[in-house]
Amino acid sequence: MIEAKSIGKFFSVVNEKGLAEGLTAVLNVSLTIPDGKIVSLLGPSGCGKSTFLEILAGLQAPTDGTIHIDGKLVLEPLPATRKEQIAYRRRYRFISPLANGVFRDRPKHDIAMIFQDYAVFPWMTALQNVVFALKLRNADRRGGTALKKREIEEKSLYYLHKVGLAASAHKYPSQLSGGMRQRLALARALSVEPKIILMDEPFAAVDALTREKLQDELLRLWYETSETGNPITIILVTHDVQEAVYLSDEVAVFSPSPGTIRNRMPVEVRRPRARTDAELVEIHERILAMFQYDINQESDYSI
Ligand SMILES: Nc1ncnc2c1ncn2[C@@H]1O[C@H](COP(=O)(O)OP(=O)(O)OP(=O)(O)O)[C@@H](O)[C@H]1O
Ligand SMILES: [Mg+2]
Repeated sequence: MIEAKSIGKFFSVVNEKGLAEGLTAVLNVSLTIPDGKIVSLLGPSGCGKSTFLEILAGLQAPTDGTIHIDGKLVLEPLPATRKEQIAYRRRYRFISPLANGVFRDRPKHDIAMIFQDYAVFPWMTALQNVVFALKLRNADRRGGTALKKREIEEKSLYYLHKVGLAASAHKYPSQLSGGMRQRLALARALSVEPKIILMDEPFAAVDALTREKLQDELLRLWYETSETGNPITIILVTHDVQEAVYLSDEVAVFSPSPGTIRNRMPVEVRRPRARTDAELVEIHERILAMFQYDINQESDYSI
């Protein structure tokens, strides 16, 4: 269970006159997400969705409020001692989200994150990218469950196959299209089989058809984990109302900056769902009406 309580985030910024200014990116956001649910965060550009997601992941500290995952406080990823800090920098310079294990009191929240710019390493092939993530995760699991080299490679190929990238395993990100890079980021996040996946607009760069295919693939993977009795929790930031409604158990609609949750819309339609389901369409329209209302109130923002 993820519990965000009264989360606020305030940034100090320097304006064009060189003066310090404050900006409230997230204001008083409380959200409780039970295990195994799919929740979408929907809202206009700049309303603090990515910031909130990074706070959930423990990558940024909130200025107000707390996040607990399974009763454990999520801390900003600062190593406690100087020695740990040096080791941390040396080892995890590039991929802090997967490096939960070395954090201050080792909270070990089992989270994978897909960033908005789907940070994959350009100097590694698709396969090496996934292998690297698995190796990092493996290093965390010293002892018992560590995978062998061959198993890591097999698993990496398995997840590349799942996102339709098996044939591109040996290509570098620069040789992939934007959508393929996004799928690679998805494969990398899935490969570590986390309990929670945080996704920041994971399907933004793919065409409509591929997008629908990936949404269904994500749901299929989610089903698979729920059949084992341990369903993965997915939190998804998106601009796509239809995607949010189709995928989610609940849609949290953010208001324009400063971002705060203006409505929580449960989507209680049984899965598998039809995209054209009347109830889904109705929720979709209600959300669009909310945005329309915001646009009428404040004419200078776009979703
Ligand atoms: N490190 C930072 N320093 C100062 N301001 C920041 C910082 N990070 C984000 N912001 C500001 O906080 C606000 C929210 O940003 P955020 O990236 O969370 O928005 P978003 O909802 O993800 O937008 P988008 O949908 O365009 O991705 C923006 O006004 C942004 O300029
Ligand atoms: Mg964002």
